Amino acid sequence: MTERTFSIIKPDATRRNLTGKVNAVIEDAGLRIVAQRRIRMSEAQAKTFYEVHAERPFYGELVEFMTSAPVVVQVLEGENAVARYREVMGATNPAQAADGTIRKLYAESVGENSVHGSDSLENARIEIAQFFTDADIVG
Ligand code: CMP
Repeated sequence: MTERTFSIIKPDATRRNLTGKVNAVIEDAGLRIVAQRRIRMSEAQAKTFYEVHAERPFYGELVEFMTSAPVVVQVLEGENAVARYREVMGATNPAQAADGTIRKLYAESVGENSVHGSDSLENARIEIAQFFTDADIVG
């Protein structure tokens, strides 16, 4: 089934000028970038986005990191896009990520792990709606 998922190229990657390299891995995997915007995430946006992790010990650090430099928010479209992008990203911890995945190639640590991808179709819809309107998405 054709799906849409939400992606963020995180500050550790934009800082190292890796936007194009990350996008190449995404496109080579057959996912289409149907919306994309480079933004500086506000503290309020980051807190809302990561609300489910509010009780985790790393929440403060996560919000600080995500607001520390520009990010690129994206909508990706393709067959089983949610699961496919999670495969392409690799494990959250780059030490456990498979060869060829974005995190194996580029991530620095479990916190500074270069990309975010939605974990379910329902969350994809919620996350996309936090950053894009339907008119922004050109499929
Ligand atoms: P992400 O997919 O953006 O969703 C939650 C994020 O929390 C996750 O990627 C990691 O970057 C971050 N995270 C998970 N575990 C830790 C940790 N132990 N320390 C710092 N950040 C973490």
